[in-house]
Amino acid sequence: MDRVRDKVVAISGGAGGIGAAIARLISSEGGKVAILDLADGRDLAREIGGDFYALDVTSEAGWADTIGAIDRKHGRIDVLVNAAGIEGDLQAGNPETTSLAEWRRVHSINLDGTFLGCRAVLPIMKRRKAGSIVNISSIVSYFGSPNAVAYSTSKGGVQTFTKSVARYGARDSNRIRCNSVHPGVIRTRMIRNIWAETARSTNRTVAEAERLSLRMVPFGTLGEPEDVAFLILYLASDESRYVTGSEFQVDGGWHLVEARS
Ligand SMILES: NC(=O)c1ccc[n+]([C@@H]2O[C@H](COP(=O)([O-])OP(=O)(O)OC[C@H]3O[C@@H](n4cnc5c(N)ncnc54)[C@H](O)[C@@H]3O)[C@@H](O)[C@H]2O)c1
Repeated sequence: MDRVRDKVVAISGGAGGIGAAIARLISSEGGKVAILDLADGRDLAREIGGDFYALDVTSEAGWADTIGAIDRKHGRIDVLVNAAGIEGDLQAGNPETTSLAEWRRVHSINLDGTFLGCRAVLPIMKRRKAGSIVNISSIVSYFGSPNAVAYSTSKGGVQTFTKSVARYGARDSNRIRCNSVHPGVIRTRMIRNIWAETARSTNRTVAEAERLSLRMVPFGTLGEPEDVAFLILYLASDESRYVTGSEFQVDGGWHLVEARS
């Protein structure tokens, strides 16, 4: 199938976890993938026949250079997926223990990085009056997290910012769509780190911490990075041409259940 045939798709955080699954799936469906990441994504780019650009998403100049280089190579950018993100320091992450420096660090990557990516790509999408931006938020944007306040607030910011971009992208008869995706518990480095920290701080084993986190999920199981990638494939494709400003949960039903700490 060629659901995104020849679309130029830039993916921040594309070297790892969910972003890497998106890169593989988009490429297998005919997309031309640009992986943007701090971590080395050259091997993955070679594997899928895409390109790798070293980028720290907090860098305004870095975004301008990277988006400019992709545009010069392909003459357009059809899709931007903002997937780069960090969970922050979970050992000192509650509202009393979070330092201002840590609060700012998490927001600079998760929220500023998403803002800078959208801002950089909008003028390019406006030339063709079309495009799709997908911002990865989190299920915690709905109910916060007592031990990851900077993370959950940054993801709430991504959720609202997405709607502003969606409204802006519909002006002047443009069709630049912007949607947010809210994963639950997905098997990546990030969730393994969260379990390790929960185990440490509550004197449990990592397996117990895993079971604890899955108690909140009606399906009772983890999601895979591919489960998120399939949704993003839809949002990147023209199948979603009438969809903008929407929120999509990929969480085994977690958002239906009251949050417990
Ligand atoms: N895994 C989950 O359960 C889960 C749940 C909800 C939301 N999310 C979100 O999904 C997205 C992907 O997370 P993941 O689980 O794949 O995590 P991950 O740690 O496996 O991957 C994150 C990627 O972002 C990159 N990155 C981090 N900081 C960066 C920076 N400053 N500049 C450029 N790249 C940077 C990393 O190098 C890595 O490749 C994140 O936004 C995360 O908040 C994940």
